Amino acid sequence: MAAVLSICVLIGILVLSAVADAQRSFFPSAIPLAVRSPHFSLWYQSTAGAQPLLNSWPSFWNAPTSIIGWTGRIRVDEVTYSWMGNDAFWNNTADIIDIQITPTRSIFVMQAGPMNVTVTYLSPIEPSDWVNQSIPFSYISVEAQSLDGATHHIQMYSDITSEFITGIRPLAVGQGGAPVKWQNNRTAQTLYHETEPEILQQYTEVAEQAQDGRGYYAMALSPGLTWEIDTDLTCRPRFMNSGNLTNTQQTTFGPMGLPWIVYAIAVDLGMVQSTSSPVTWALGYVRDPVAPYTTPSGMTEIRRPYWTTRYSDVSSLIDAFVADYPAALDRAVALDERILADAAKISPQYGDLVSLVARQVMGALDITVLGGPGNDGDVTDVKAFMKDIGSTLRVNPVESMFAAFPAYLYLNASLGGALLAPLLQSQDGLVGQPYAAQDIGASYPNATGTRGAHQQGIEQSGNMLIMMYAHARVSGDGSLLSRHYDTAKRWADYLVNNTLTPLNQDSADGLTNPNMTNLAIKGIIGVKAMAEISRATHHDSDAQQYDSHATALAGSWLSLSESSDQQHLLGQYGDQSSSAMLYNIYADLLLNTSLIPQDVLAKQTQYYSTLLQSAGPLGLYFDKSLSNLHLASSAWTLFTAATVTDDGVRNQLVQYAWDRASFNKTAGQFPDVYDYITGDISDNRGGRAGPALGAMFAPLALTVPNTTIVVSGGSPLGDNPDSPGSGNSPGSTGSNGKPNIGAIVGGAVGGVVLLAIALGAGFFKFCWHRRRQQRAGAAYHYKEDIFEHPQPYEYGLASQQECSPNRLGYADADTRRAHAGPADQAAHPSPSNAPYAPPYPIVGSSKARERAREMEQRYPLSPSGSAEPGPITPRTPNSDVMSSRTESGTGGSGVTTDLLGLRAELENLRRVMRGLREERLDPPPQYGN
Ligand SMILES: *[C@@H]1O[C@H](CO)[C@@H](O)[C@H](O)[C@H]1NC(C)=O
Ligand SMILES: *[C@@H]1O[C@H](CO)[C@@H](O)[C@H](O)[C@H]1NC(C)=O
Ligand SMILES: *[C@@H]1O[C@H](CO)[C@@H](O)[C@H](O)[C@H]1NC(C)=O
Ligand SMILES: *[C@@H]1O[C@H](CO)[C@@H](O)[C@H](O)[C@H]1NC(C)=O
Ligand SMILES: *[C@@H]1O[C@H](CO)[C@@H](O)[C@H](O)[C@H]1NC(C)=O
Ligand SMILES: *[C@@H]1O[C@H](CO)[C@@H](O)[C@H](O)[C@H]1NC(C)=O
Repeated sequence: MAAVLSICVLIGILVLSAVADAQRSFFPSAIPLAVRSPHFSLWYQSTAGAQPLLNSWPSFWNAPTSIIGWTGRIRVDEVTYSWMGNDAFWNNTADIIDIQITPTRSIFVMQAGPMNVTVTYLSPIEPSDWVNQSIPFSYISVEAQSLDGATHHIQMYSDITSEFITGIRPLAVGQGGAPVKWQNNRTAQTLYHETEPEILQQYTEVAEQAQDGRGYYAMALSPGLTWEIDTDLTCRPRFMNSGNLTNTQQTTFGPMGLPWIVYAIAVDLGMVQSTSSPVTWALGYVRDPVAPYTTPSGMTEIRRPYWTTRYSDVSSLIDAFVADYPAALDRAVALDERILADAAKISPQYGDLVSLVARQVMGALDITVLGGPGNDGDVTDVKAFMKDIGSTLRVNPVESMFAAFPAYLYLNASLGGALLAPLLQSQDGLVGQPYAAQDIGASYPNATGTRGAHQQGIEQSGNMLIMMYAHARVSGDGSLLSRHYDTAKRWADYLVNNTLTPLNQDSADGLTNPNMTNLAIKGIIGVKAMAEISRATHHDSDAQQYDSHATALAGSWLSLSESSDQQHLLGQYGDQSSSAMLYNIYADLLLNTSLIPQDVLAKQTQYYSTLLQSAGPLGLYFDKSLSNLHLASSAWTLFTAATVTDDGVRNQLVQYAWDRASFNKTAGQFPDVYDYITGDISDNRGGRAGPALGAMFAPLALTVPNTTIVVSGGSPLGDNPDSPGSGNSPGSTGSNGKPNIGAIVGGAVGGVVLLAIALGAGFFKFCWHRRRQQRAGAAYHYKEDIFEHPQPYEYGLASQQECSPNRLGYADADTRRAHAGPADQAAHPSPSNAPYAPPYPIVGSSKARERAREMEQRYPLSPSGSAEPGPITPRTPNSDVMSSRTESGTGGSGVTTDLLGLRAELENLRRVMRGLREERLDPPPQYGN
């Protein structure tokens, strides 16, 4: 312990000496574990009061309704330690020393007896290799080194239930979920388990989980490998007691949970001082086809995952993915270093924000090719589909794409083109509707096409034109511009007539006010984007026309939107009390269209700086007319941050988003929309785990160089499977179109990267303090504290205070304890007790009405009056009596911190019971039913 402490202190000193802002302590309330596709998104819910990962269940993104019985163990000299999962089948807990979050990885450093154990959850981000990007697999790897220099007998184990392949979970203890089946199989190099629902329901979701996919758990074959498919009560104790498995499988299929079947793989490394290479599992969830897409002519295309262009079946896919681990890790490290080096130029906190959201922004996409006879391997027709995870669940939601676009522009702009392609094709013939559609389907993955009239004409037409031009100028690919020129022109004409004085127009934020300055300027930038689109496609007279429209509109807009003292811009024309984050101005900088004069931006910056003085503890409203709801948006905060002319104001805005990202008193992933006083997530979803958080990349996207747009002879999207876009993502493509990050790291940005490497992982490290369990009585008086920055609950591990100083400088653990613990959650009831309530309770907003209707359809009110996400109740895959009770009470209730707190308490209780049992030297408890 002392050694660990001093090492942590050392790291702390390193961080202190190396980084200007040494006061780092980043405590997000959910940490990505395996996040690769809209239906494969597994997280560790690290909310205040939660147990560390080694003693809690991971979950699907929409936790707590969907925990996943997924465990990890290391057996050191016959003593079994847990590194994941909340069952009872281990002798000891490991201690968490450190957690790091990088864009591609979540890394947990633990100590298990005499071993230093590092568990790395790697979800590759492969923006410029769409085969690799579309592979819905993640790695879990474990390394261990002896801390005492001696060799030890090391055995490793991990298993998972079928909960990651179906949302049909048991409603209560003793009931079953979806009937599932399984099969063990192998190739020459790889062993894998496969599990699927007995009845695959194509394109169907239950509680956001797909019902038409197959799950895989795989590992490279090695001499010490053993495996088993049997109940949790068989496999887990077997490993604990004997350190290996039987290489056999149960053959009686049945409802999931009756009993809980686990797919286990173990490795015996023998006597070692350290692992020579990481022990690596590959977890995957494969859907093929992934989406039906209805073309304007009414035909439904079968869209298959992009990886099918290289791999003809799943077993060769698994083989390739498993064998690729060392190279995939190298690519991931290089990408992480590049992103973090770029982010470090913005502000010290900023790297945490992009690290936390990168995987979910890529994981919101399915990149597809046309399936069906004769189409195999055809990469001339690439379409990407986005699920509005954490929000409306629509298909290619235009406003979320707009928010996410900076991430795609930065990582590989061609991704943006593949997302725009189906939206544009769907609207080419749609001459009756002068403005752009909101999406191409109400329920992912059904891309049924556009859905008729709506009130967001300016919003969505502006979004589309801005994204079209942004994609083209960064990727150089003008094919969409020429192919859909008439459609773009139709929208631009609509904007010319309507955007200056928006009436009866909704914003995608749910605002319906007349004459919203922020909405109007989006439309005007859209008109200017059309001028550039016309120029790029050699429609010169159109270009002139739209140029002069845009200039005139911008001039009028400026005089209409300026405050009477001409010191700032209003939220609504003429309303001197109105006020908003004019985040759409971001597009003017992104496209370099220069409609907004620099001095106006400077004055607006000054104005924001004044507003920030009265911001809430977690940020500022994006529109004052919503200030009674205290709604902040992390996406629009970052867009706004990218528009200001003063780095201090920018960093302050970034800091607020970071404060919410690191705020863990409310359960659920870092949200887009939240209450800036309580931190509560808007409508319990608020975009959490979803694509809109790609807006965190807004400042980075402004650094991406543009290039000449090629219209004719240019390849349509994805002509070359390995280089869907070249020259678009800084340093992402080499001469052969394949990623060549290594060369870039060594070259252009070498100095900065080297500095980042020198700072080492320590730069993005934070030490987590292992706390004694917080018990009731440590009441946290939230109200009194409300206008200070709320303290994050420092979960995980032990109190190396030197490593986790908080930003308010509380040095003493007792002070901090008073700010945290499950008791707080109960003492601080939040609106999230009404799960999945209609979002944005804005009276009269058609947006709110529409979303409420959509939510009602998805989550019909239960008899008790609370909406429930389907007939689902979570439970524990462990049949340990205490923990069964622990989990079965949290059913279907959305994100309720109280329940999580309660669950944590019960988990503690279970631990205490277990301790008692051990003390009495009773035989292991019976886990019968
Ligand atoms: C680990 O726990 C199991 C079950 O309680 C017990 O049988 C076993 O002896 C323990 N192993 C060690 C090394 O303590
Ligand atoms: C444990 O391993 C991690 C890397 O996985 C390393 O950073 C750390 O220094 C190691 N700790 C000790 C005490 O060796
Ligand atoms: C094992 O995988 C091969 C190759 O994919 C497949 O043909 C075979 O049917 C599988 N065996 C079983 C028992 O599922
Ligand atoms: C998609 O469409 C199919 C066929 O109409 C339907 O069964 C399925 O429930 C739909 N999926 C969603 C998520 O609405
Ligand atoms: C498991 O280990 C035991 C000894 O610890 C050994 O006898 C047995 O053969 C092993 N089983 C397998 C499948 O390797
Ligand atoms: C724009 O307004 C002009 C003049 O009122 C009208 O002729 C034209 O049809 C309108 N265009 C669109 C796209 O609404």
